[in-house]
Amino acid sequence: MARLLVALVCAYLTTTVGASLRLELSRLEAKASSLATVRRAIAPVRWRQGWHVTEYRIGDPPQPVQSIIDVGSGLVWTQSATCHPRCISQDLDCYNPDRSRSAHSVPCDNRTLCAAAHAGRCTGHNAACTIMAKNGAEGIELWDLAGDLGVDVFTFGSEKVTIAFGRMREIKLFKPEILGGASGVIGLGKGPLSLVSQLGHTKFSYCFTEDVNATSHLVIGSSAVLGDGPVTSIPFVVNPSEEPYNTLYYVPLIGLSVGNVRLAIPTAAFNMRRASPWLWTGGTIIDSCIETMFLVDVAYKALRQEVARQMDSSLLPTTSEWPEYCVDRWDVGAVPPLVLHFGDGADLVLPATNYWMPLADDRTCMVVYSSAERNTTLPMNETTVIGSYMQQDMHVLYDIGKGEISFQAAHCSSM
Ligand SMILES: *[C@@H]1O[C@H](CO)[C@@H](O)[C@H](O)[C@H]1NC(C)=O
Ligand SMILES: *[C@@H]1O[C@H](CO)[C@@H](O)[C@H](O)[C@H]1NC(C)=O
Ligand SMILES: *[C@@H]1O[C@H](CO)[C@@H](O)[C@H](O)[C@H]1NC(C)=O
Ligand SMILES: *[C@@H]1O[C@H](CO)[C@@H](O)[C@H](O)[C@H]1NC(C)=O
Repeated sequence: MARLLVALVCAYLTTTVGASLRLELSRLEAKASSLATVRRAIAPVRWRQGWHVTEYRIGDPPQPVQSIIDVGSGLVWTQSATCHPRCISQDLDCYNPDRSRSAHSVPCDNRTLCAAAHAGRCTGHNAACTIMAKNGAEGIELWDLAGDLGVDVFTFGSEKVTIAFGRMREIKLFKPEILGGASGVIGLGKGPLSLVSQLGHTKFSYCFTEDVNATSHLVIGSSAVLGDGPVTSIPFVVNPSEEPYNTLYYVPLIGLSVGNVRLAIPTAAFNMRRASPWLWTGGTIIDSCIETMFLVDVAYKALRQEVARQMDSSLLPTTSEWPEYCVDRWDVGAVPPLVLHFGDGADLVLPATNYWMPLADDRTCMVVYSSAERNTTLPMNETTVIGSYMQQDMHVLYDIGKGEISFQAAHCSSM
């Protein structure tokens, strides 16, 4: 079950990195990216302890880092050597700017990279551009992160490019294993400081597998293309302009089917709505940092009812309230596919192995949950999230220029 808990925590991590950091970094000029152009960046991706982690190097001479791929975040960050002992354990040595000839701090009066929103606390011409994020929802402090913005040369294979990124020096999390040994996060959202924006590109692709022995690739730039064969393309929903919603990848989910049975869910249940001047809730986002799927509660209730109806004889009695449904692992072949229906007529078919996960005791369990479970609050408790497990063994292409995301069945462990 530890795996599922981590997945839920990641939901907080994603929204909060987005929310607070992007707030701090608001009013950036759209072209913070003019730092660099690079033809393409290709980085290996491996599965480890709940995350898809990519590897590249920072600095001159280059220092290796391992970063969790997070399409829900608009910032690249890594723990920095000054972090010790206030950071969490990672497998590689921390990035040390003092050992890099190409490392620079970004001063807080740099209007291109540091936020004007931050100027109130800009204490002088050469003061650092401080970034901070905190999650204190309901008095439970889940995590707390602080650092400063720097620039350095990132090396992807043979390509080198100068990137602005967070050098974190203080990270507190309620679960120390939260990063799974990685060094930080690589944000691939739509915001100006995400890796894809800074590289000056509008396309990227990945192909996730949870095969621990396999290496797949994150490809950023024009060489991110799908192969021959059927493709399901879904247009992105236009983002709200407020932070952090402007960095997320929203898709127009309107309904679900279990096998051939269309569930009776009002389409409006999936709509995005403004809950207050700075708060958007609802909608459906694609994420890579959350492993499982969270459905808006009314859709989840319809799903569980239909799954129970169709699967009744094979369902095992459960020992915990979470996950609700399990079958013997040899019975997973009897689980019908889950079909996601999108607004423009596209259907994305998730086979059983993309929404039922092998867990302990030879059980395979449905890893789709209600967004409202576990006392989450707005906006996450009403938002539908399509996590990384649902995207496994699909080659996924984000084409921000064209405004769509495409999925193609693939053997990701051999790509
Ligand atoms: C901000 O910092 C970047 C990176 O060091 C630099 O290229 C840019 O010229 C700076 N902009 C300003 C306005 O100082
Ligand atoms: C990964 O490789 C190890 C060592 O070669 C092997 O024992 C293990 O079964 C492999 N795991 C998978 C999922 O293929
Ligand atoms: C949700 O909140 C209620 C009331 O505060 C509490 O009794 C319950 O244990 C909480 N559930 C979870 C899963 O945290
Ligand atoms: C979501 O949380 C808010 C409080 O933040 C609550 O008012 C609302 O009823 C919750 N929605 C659901 C579907 O539980």
